[in-house]
Amino acid sequence: MGYCTEKKIIIAIDGFSSGGKSTFAREIAARLGYIFIDTGAMYRAVTLYALEHGAIRGGILDEEKLAGMLDEIDIRFRFNPQRGASDIYVNGELAEGKIRTIEVSNFVSAVSGIAAVRRKLVAMQQEMGRNKGIVMDGRDIGTVVFPDAELKIFLTADPAVRARRRYEELRAKGMEVSQEEIERNIRQRDEADQSREVSPLRKADDAVVLDNSSMTLPEQMDWVTERLNSLGISTECGTGPAGT
Ligand code: DC
Repeated sequence: MGYCTEKKIIIAIDGFSSGGKSTFAREIAARLGYIFIDTGAMYRAVTLYALEHGAIRGGILDEEKLAGMLDEIDIRFRFNPQRGASDIYVNGELAEGKIRTIEVSNFVSAVSGIAAVRRKLVAMQQEMGRNKGIVMDGRDIGTVVFPDAELKIFLTADPAVRARRRYEELRAKGMEVSQEEIERNIRQRDEADQSREVSPLRKADDAVVLDNSSMTLPEQMDWVTERLNSLGISTECGTGPAGT
């Protein structure tokens, strides 16, 4: 471990779905000894709750019903040392696996377009970052959640590359999925994320763009280390690479 500064910052990572934001954010957090929050998991958790409690029935989302349920939904993160990251719990139940199904993916854009859902989750996210020392990834982190974040990164990658990565990730978890279906879902979500009325996905004016289509994780880490060093932040303070 090298010399570590006391200065803590907020790092906001936004970008399209399945672009490797969480892997990148988790690795940065591990190197810095920062908290890592995957805000997509929070929107997925609300979607899972809606599916399990009748706010999504027969393929139809009842927005009013879901808005009325929001106070019942308790979302928490608990650090899992084996993964080197936090697991998400919904009303006390581990939901990490359940929130990644294609069923949840198919409804999460609609759920994340509901203003009341965003109000609740954005307030939670801002509270989590109150003491800084946090890496948060999502769609609106640099624009809405932390407009004053010291480092904002907008991550992009080719949709076909993202579909292949997601496919391999889900297959590795033993899920039966088709790459075509995933690519279709990714393109639909790109469109929905960018065109929704509340907090659409867009690059913050002061965000730096990183296209990682043909970059490895170590290459991305070199890229971000340079930026962090220029902000006076050492990357030698954490526990080293994140667990798998
Ligand atoms: O990152 P992800 O694919 O797990 O995110 C799931 C969905 O949640 C995605 O379709 C967009 C939405 N989302 C959002 O609207 N705002 C965020 N800050 C994070 C995710």
